[in-house]
Amino acid sequence: MDFKDKVVVITGGSQGIGRAIALSFARAKAKVIIMDINKELAEKVQDEITKEGFDAKVYKLDVSNAEETKKTIDEITAEYGKIDVLINNAGIVDTKRFVDSSEKDWDRMININLKGVFNTCSAVFPQMIARKYGKIINIASVAGKRGGGIFGNTLYAASKAGVIGMTKGLAREGGPYGINANAICPGPTNTPMLDDFTGEKRENFLNTIPLRRFADPEDVANVALFLASDMAKHITGEITDVDGGIMLD
Ligand SMILES: NC(=O)c1ccc[n+]([C@@H]2O[C@H](COP(=O)([O-])OP(=O)(O)OC[C@H]3O[C@@H](n4cnc5c(N)ncnc54)[C@H](O)[C@@H]3O)[C@@H](O)[C@H]2O)c1
Repeated sequence: MDFKDKVVVITGGSQGIGRAIALSFARAKAKVIIMDINKELAEKVQDEITKEGFDAKVYKLDVSNAEETKKTIDEITAEYGKIDVLINNAGIVDTKRFVDSSEKDWDRMININLKGVFNTCSAVFPQMIARKYGKIINIASVAGKRGGGIFGNTLYAASKAGVIGMTKGLAREGGPYGINANAICPGPTNTPMLDDFTGEKRENFLNTIPLRRFADPEDVANVALFLASDMAKHITGEITDVDGGIMLD
């Protein structure tokens, strides 16, 4: 795939799925911009990309902060002239049971995982409408369809279900302006988010997945590349599972 001259913004690109997405788009010649709360780690990904001879830049950002997000998107737009692809990947997980969850836990989860997507999309949508072009890809989760899961609790599930709903709404409203909005629902993926998931716990869970494997971050990145490409120009409002078959149950 060739994304030459395309400006691709990725939130949470400093590790895990976001890092794989950033590397994949950079290797496809896009101008990659990573917006992440962890600047040091994001700069390591930037180094990896530039050492390979590709293009990347980092902006430190907490996506839950609307004002900061708008300011950062405006800066990027001023520097690059446009944003072609927005990939909302930044997210947190929390394994607390619902009965142990507080209002503070709820606010944190919703503010990062759901409001974060609102913040970036509302900052980028007007320019995409004006240009009659844009690709929005939101990284949700199978937890948003199943009401949680192996590590996703109810709060996480609610945030990701919200992302799925917002994606469909963005697809409806953006469609007449040439904007495609799609979501990807990964199942368990080999990233630091799954670091606690080891030993027998991991084995037992693997046995419930038809393909008997966790996703690699690149499995998710490949679908993001496809959805952002012209090959997927007639796909919008689609929620694609990358889950080894978990959703068959
Ligand atoms: N790993 C999995 O099994 C899995 C499964 C389903 C969905 N997902 C989703 O995929 C996405 C990426 O997950 P991952 O496993 O790579 O996670 P991760 O924890 O490895 O990486 C998350 C990234 O988001 C960044 N981030 C966190 N809070 C932020 C904030 N407030 N502002 C900006 N950046 C912030 C982190 O610094 C990090 O770079 C998340 O949305 C997650 O919910 C992951």
